[in-house]
Amino acid sequence: MNIEDYTLITRHTVMASDLNMHNNLYGGILLNWLDEAGYIFAVETCKFSNLVTVALNNVAFKSPVKLGDIIEIYAKLNKIGRTSISIKLFAQNISVCHNCQPRPIIDCDIVFVRVDKKGKPQLIKKTKEKNYECQC
Ligand SMILES: CC(C)(COP(=O)(O)OP(=O)(O)OC[C@H]1O[C@@H](n2cnc3c(N)ncnc32)[C@H](O)[C@@H]1OP(=O)(O)O)[C@@H](O)C(=O)NCCC(=O)NCCS
Repeated sequence: MNIEDYTLITRHTVMASDLNMHNNLYGGILLNWLDEAGYIFAVETCKFSNLVTVALNNVAFKSPVKLGDIIEIYAKLNKIGRTSISIKLFAQNISVCHNCQPRPIIDCDIVFVRVDKKGKPQLIKKTKEKNYECQC
């Protein structure tokens, strides 16, 4: 994994309300942040927003995150299929407890599917002007 291939999408400060009973960041909160960052990257890449998350793969939490830590979420395009966009996500933790040296916390894949008004998969078409068809 080379972070230089990725784009920084979001940053979050870990608040008291984000912690579990062990005083670590609750995993579900991080999944929420990953889903949001993936969605932002997908919309910016494809130029449409009618996307639903179909899969979040290879999720493993590598080290605990504590109150006041700063989480950075990076994304990189993996591939665009017929109806789906697959994105690589990477998150790192900046903590004063570790002299603010970034520590990797997750490295996973997220897949979104473009859907029509009935929620069925819709083709992702390329155009000459914008690369991908805009729905606006
Ligand atoms: C997303 C959804 C519309 C896909 O419908 P489907 O009938 O399963 O569609 P398909 O089997 O044709 O798959 C559509 C695309 O998703 C991809 N896909 C489906 N399941 C996948 C998985 N588990 N991992 C990776 N890609 C997956 C397929 O490869 C296909 O990609 P392609 O068209 O680029 O080749 C449907 O599963 C759905 O509505 N899911 C709920 C979405 C949702 O509510 N998400 C919010 C979180 S609850």
